[in-house]
Amino acid sequence: MAAPKVAVVGAGVIGLSTALCITETCPSCSLTILSDQFSPNTTSDVAAGMLIPHVYPETPTHVQKQWFKETFTYLFAISNSAEASEAGIHLVSGWQIFKNTPKEELPFWSDVVLGFRPMTKAELQKFPQHQFGQAFTTLKCDCPPYLLWLEKRLKATGIQMHNRKVADLWELHSEYNVVVNCAGIGARQLLGDKELFPVRGQVLKVHAPWVKNFIRDGDGLTYIYPGIHSVTLGGTREKESWSLSPDAGTTKDIFDRCCSLEPSLQGAKEMEVKVGLRPSRQCVRLQREVLSQGGVKLLLVHNYGHGAGGFSVHWGTAKEAAHLVRECIAALQDSSARAKL
Ligand SMILES: Cc1cc2nc3c(=O)[nH]c(=O)nc-3n(C[C@H](O)[C@H](O)[C@H](O)COP(=O)(O)OP(=O)(O)OC[C@H]3O[C@@H](n4cnc5c(N)ncnc54)[C@H](O)[C@@H]3O)c2cc1C
Ligand SMILES: *[C@@H]1O[C@H](CO)[C@@H](O)[C@H](O)[C@H]1NC(C)=O
Repeated sequence: MAAPKVAVVGAGVIGLSTALCITETCPSCSLTILSDQFSPNTTSDVAAGMLIPHVYPETPTHVQKQWFKETFTYLFAISNSAEASEAGIHLVSGWQIFKNTPKEELPFWSDVVLGFRPMTKAELQKFPQHQFGQAFTTLKCDCPPYLLWLEKRLKATGIQMHNRKVADLWELHSEYNVVVNCAGIGARQLLGDKELFPVRGQVLKVHAPWVKNFIRDGDGLTYIYPGIHSVTLGGTREKESWSLSPDAGTTKDIFDRCCSLEPSLQGAKEMEVKVGLRPSRQCVRLQREVLSQGGVKLLLVHNYGHGAGGFSVHWGTAKEAAHLVRECIAALQDSSARAKL
């Protein structure tokens, strides 16, 4: 059989990382990325890119933990390499604070991040409205740099990237043996998946180089995430809102909430306001599917629905998706060998 042709639809953090894993697990494949948007125009470009997991209610916890651990280990190695600065990967320490003591004191990821511990009384004095907190060190992927670095690595392996909107996955059937769907919220239209819904998030990027530690309110709504070149201030979680235009009232509200946690932000210069739609689902859809139409088959691998935590688990889910692609190709080679007998 000739080199199997694989198309990855989507060029956010999930599509790019999945493509990179496929080049590793299936070096004989001819790989193409098709996407209607590339960095800096994807949802992934809006994200703060912090490695703090979001919980998927219908994905088993041990699976979520495995994805997070694989992602953390992979990025930790990059953060310790000479590539760290270009890739936009860095360690960041800080605090997650709570107004009330959380029910479960230890989140499932507490032994994956570094140095997880309860905050001391002295640290808590910084946050008079909060009762309790956890200090730890985690990783952050700055975007767009991380996405551009993934693109650069992909181009170096010779893969094709085309600007193309796919209206129907069947369009790809005659050109490709396997199609990998990493379309994020775009999968709603592409597949009609009603379980997938947008959770709108608005953030501000500000210039405040003196802010070195992250601060996250345990309710997940207000956060301050310092990156290499800017600090991300958030945020909002608006279910089923499709609006991509920034709201001025929300911008002021986010800024005020962040200043109440870190008053020195009053002196920050606003750089930009961004909006993204988190591709949310009860669980990440990571599975093979075979579509049939009039006796013709289309082999698909899905990897979408990462909601508020795509960066935190992207490498783990990309590895699993690449493994599913390899299974599809093995099945194809098997049936083409049998056809020759
Ligand atoms: C404000 C905000 C803050 C966030 N902060 C964090 C954080 O700190 N940590 C974290 O882990 N996560 C965070 N997230 C979540 C994270 O951004 C997402 O989980 C992640 O970006 C999803 O990646 P994706 O590649 O699936 O989607 P996307 O980045 O949206 O990529 C989808 C790609 O598919 C393409 N596409 C879609 N439909 C089609 C089609 N029909 N034809 C061709 N191409 C198509 C798009 O053009 C795009 O390239 C945040 C999200 C938001 C909005
Ligand atoms: C991003 O979008 C802008 C505005 O539509 C466009 O001019 C630019 O070419 C896009 N960038 C990429 C890399 O597609």
